Amino acid sequence: MNGYDLARGLHILAVIAWMAGMLFLPRLYAYDAEQNGKPEPLKSEMQTLLRLWQARLLRIIVNPAMTLAFVFGGWLIYLDVEMRGWAFLAEPWMVTKLAGVFLLAGWHGFLSAERKRIAAGTSTRAGRFWRMTNEIPFVLAIIMVLSVTTEWTF
Ligand code: HEM
Repeated sequence: MNGYDLARGLHILAVIAWMAGMLFLPRLYAYDAEQNGKPEPLKSEMQTLLRLWQARLLRIIVNPAMTLAFVFGGWLIYLDVEMRGWAFLAEPWMVTKLAGVFLLAGWHGFLSAERKRIAAGTSTRAGRFWRMTNEIPFVLAIIMVLSVTTEWTF
């Protein structure tokens, strides 16, 4: 076993946890939004429980997993630079991968801000919005994973 193999194994594990959380969180937002037509006290009870799960999922899984994906991804960049120099960072597959990372982190930020709006009762988004956007992280994951595994070029 070498350092690179360990770093990519840990990177993949962190990415799995990050993706799992990013795919589940909007489901909790959809269930929350869909309580709005329901009678009291069922609506309030359900939303209290769902908001607790939303906060916990972000705090315990999604935020730490993203941090670890960056830490191990950063370690991989360091090892890659040692092995093949800085130039790989400008190759099309790596630029695509980093663009995917940027977009995924942006979506994470949006979901995080939305949790605060939901908790404050100021979110205007319907369940349909969360169901329609639910696939965004997975589409980004397909692009990112295939970029690094194929190292495609023009
Ligand atoms: C969080 C910021 C991230 C950084 C800085 C980063 C960086 C890197 C780097 C430098 C590599 C090594 C590329 C190589 O030389 O082959 C790598 C590999 C990889 N990354 Fe990331 N990455 C990040 C996030 C992600 C995400 C979000 C995914 C998937 C959704 C992902 C999936 C992978 C996979 C599958 C590999 C291949 C591991 C292997 O070599 O077998 N990464 N990453």
